Amino acid sequence: MPDLVLHVTGARPNFPKAAPVIRALADLGVPQELIHTGQHYDEKMSDVFFRELGLPKPDVNLGVGSGSHAGQTAAIMTGLEEIFLSRNPGMVVVYGDVNSTVAAALVASKLQIPVAHVEAGLRSFDMSMPEEINRLVTDRLSNLLLATSPDAIAHLGNEGTDPDKIHLVGNPMIDTLLANVDRFDADRARTEYDLGDRYIVATLHRPGNVDDPADAAALVKAMHAVADQAEIVLPLHPRGRARLEAAGLFDHPKLKVIDPLGYVEFLGLVRGASAVVTDSGGVQEETTMLGVPCLTLRPNTERPVTITHGTNRLVTREALPQVVADVLAAGRSETWPTPPLWDGHAGERIAAVIKQYLRD
Ligand code: UD1
Ligand code: UDP
Repeated sequence: MPDLVLHVTGARPNFPKAAPVIRALADLGVPQELIHTGQHYDEKMSDVFFRELGLPKPDVNLGVGSGSHAGQTAAIMTGLEEIFLSRNPGMVVVYGDVNSTVAAALVASKLQIPVAHVEAGLRSFDMSMPEEINRLVTDRLSNLLLATSPDAIAHLGNEGTDPDKIHLVGNPMIDTLLANVDRFDADRARTEYDLGDRYIVATLHRPGNVDDPADAAALVKAMHAVADQAEIVLPLHPRGRARLEAAGLFDHPKLKVIDPLGYVEFLGLVRGASAVVTDSGGVQEETTMLGVPCLTLRPNTERPVTITHGTNRLVTREALPQVVADVLAAGRSETWPTPPLWDGHAGERIAAVIKQYLRD
């Protein structure tokens, strides 16, 4: 069906980005199907988002599960090729920078199916990150490059991308945040985790922080020095769990390590936090909108707009304890800048661009 739009999702950060796009395309009457690759599969990494965000049940779940980069990407590609051939869509929409994203872009482009990339043009310029490779390849293959921030437009321009393909649409992950903000209940989160007024939320899963035992040990040392100053709640991603546990992460009385949380519960905790310590991409954006100081444990970010127009700053593991002390002393600001077009209407802009493309 040449006017069918196929959305490909697979990992946790894809779901809050896809929800507003699917909703807006439905409002325009565009036929669509949702494919879940199964890259993430734990209840709290996947199903909870479908329930909480009102996402339609996936039409297909490829169930690829975990594996090496090549193994996982190949399994997704093989599965998607069959689906794309049987559905013959007019467009494939991919989200963010995960292996499911690049796999879908490769398969679609070789079948001459147009690709729309939501969150195009972000660059960390750090080729040690698998996500940077995924972003570069996906953008090169995409027919519509849907950008969340002006820096992304500049990167695509510098790479020689045809300007007619590029659209600044805002941030659909922020659409989801703004649509649900009234459900983010900080008091409930405090009661649930027995927290006082001052607490810190952390998330950690980047290979650069958790894969190597020496990095994990340095990270645990820094997190314990933070926990000496304020209680920490850390909903831990499955990726780093074993190594961080072996490095002694769980051995501090003021550091609560818990399982990954559902979206609404997680952002309830974040909303009431004095600060967030993270290496997540999406959490840098969400803290910016909620006005919560965000300390990003990375040497770089592909989301510099959250520093120039938000609450984010990059921090090393060594500097983290002192930076936390400074942030706790300063308290949260009453006002802060937010990026342009992060206004809750990115999904509608994306849907309009896709519909126009299909019409043309
Ligand atoms: C992936 C993305 C990363 C993104 C993150 C979001 C790639 C290359 N990386 O990283 O950009 O920030 O998702 O969360 O696509 N696991 C489970 N249960 C699950 C899923 C994963 O236990 O439901 C464990 C498995 O041991 C697996 C490991 O986590 O091997 C890593 O999963 P994977 O999807 O390969 O990469 P992430 O680190 O999750
Ligand atoms: N998130 C969640 N529960 C958690 C941790 C994160 O719902 O315990 C949400 C978070 O609010 C954001 C998304 O997961 O919407 C980000 O995913 P992640 O950090 O795994 O990926 P990244 O953005 O780094 O690619």
